[in-house]
Amino acid sequence: MSTSVQDMTERVGKLIAKEEADFRARRPRSDEMWKEAKQYVSKGVPSSFQDAPPQPIFVERGKGSRVWDVDGNEYVDFHNGFGVMVVGHAHPLIVEAITQRAALGTHFAQPGPDVVEVAKELSKRFKQPQWRFTNSGTESTLDAVRLARGFTGRDRIVKIEATYHGHHDTLMVSVEPKPALMGPAESPASVPQTEGIPKVLTDLTSVVAFNDLEQLEAVFKRYPDQIAALIVEPVMMNLGIVMPDDGYLAKAKEIAHKHGALLIFDEVKTGCTIAPGGATERFGVTPDLVALAKAIGGGTPCGAVGGRADVMALIDDDRVAQFGTFNGNPLTMAAARATLTKILTPSAYAHFDAISEVLAGGLRDVIAKHELPFHVQSLAARGGVTYRKERVRNYRDYLTISKTWAYASWLYQSNRGVLMAPFAEENWTLSVQHSEEDVQRYVDNFAELARDLTN
Ligand SMILES: Cc1ncc(COP(=O)(O)O)c(C=O)c1O
Repeated sequence: MSTSVQDMTERVGKLIAKEEADFRARRPRSDEMWKEAKQYVSKGVPSSFQDAPPQPIFVERGKGSRVWDVDGNEYVDFHNGFGVMVVGHAHPLIVEAITQRAALGTHFAQPGPDVVEVAKELSKRFKQPQWRFTNSGTESTLDAVRLARGFTGRDRIVKIEATYHGHHDTLMVSVEPKPALMGPAESPASVPQTEGIPKVLTDLTSVVAFNDLEQLEAVFKRYPDQIAALIVEPVMMNLGIVMPDDGYLAKAKEIAHKHGALLIFDEVKTGCTIAPGGATERFGVTPDLVALAKAIGGGTPCGAVGGRADVMALIDDDRVAQFGTFNGNPLTMAAARATLTKILTPSAYAHFDAISEVLAGGLRDVIAKHELPFHVQSLAARGGVTYRKERVRNYRDYLTISKTWAYASWLYQSNRGVLMAPFAEENWTLSVQHSEEDVQRYVDNFAELARDLTN
């Protein structure tokens, strides 16, 4: 007989207390380093996303599918640097590319020989003729928004409630709005995600629910001739994994175009991970502009924005500025070239599918056996467990899920040799260096949690 959710909720609190104590006991060196870091670095971490409870894990090194923390704990890495390391750690071809390049000089702020090879490969994968490089996903979405505004001569941007597109002002709106501020489901409010953003900027960003074409039509009608672009993350990957409804992306493009606006895909997480050509390929919808970063650079700080020839021509014509001292940096380009042309080949995607089947299948069996109210979603190198039975279609669905389950699972995995991205909404990233044995460890740990929750 299945255990009631109430029984499981009572148990999970006790399990978390025990696992947190184990977690701390095994990481005294991380704790010392964190305490020292706090004296010099805000929150003791380089980015606030790294400040995850119960305490940050300071990592020393990585090789293949594994990483080791400063306390000597070994993990199979499913965090993979927030979705970056699909090549795995210290891949010999990346090490070779970076080492050779470093010996020849690491920075000139002049174009180099790898730039065009990387752009050619991205063009092939994402069906965009023209490219520019950046250094992060934030810069890529920022440039895409500026290009759309320049092209249309319009100021307003429409984004989806609870998508994260990086930390620039225009899109740091309603990323994880508090229920008291988020407004009605049928007409979400524009809520600044942080202090320090001018209200006039937040007011220029309209917010709609994912998978809701009626809301999208309504916002275009409400602001005739004012909307420059709709930006979407084609599969939402910061709320677990939220799939687009069948036909949603194609219809969203049609609506944007009908109203004279552009469609921007933020493929920072989906790009080169869910298919060689990301969501563009997987769903057969080519946007007007695409923002990339993360996986394309093989572990170097990278980003790219690609687009239609007539839109990107604004850069040629000096109408839209696209700058950056480190854009197309030789180290990044060498690593990106090796990643795209030598590592993320068709056999890499076949490998992702094969191990993803073992992982997702194993988790589904555990869920079925213990009759847990959870489900699994996977797409090639990406996937995750969602802690509710029914599919999540948007942020309001996601809010019905207690974050306790994900936190308990994260602790179980961390204490049993699996590193996961922190926070409830995160999910796994596989690499070309992950094996069936690696993913089985994830399944076994999850099975242990399931047993403890239900017994
Ligand atoms: C979908 C998406 N877009 C943009 C970004 C921002 O990328 P970056 O952290 O490289 O600035 C992220 C970061 O996680 C992301 O998940």
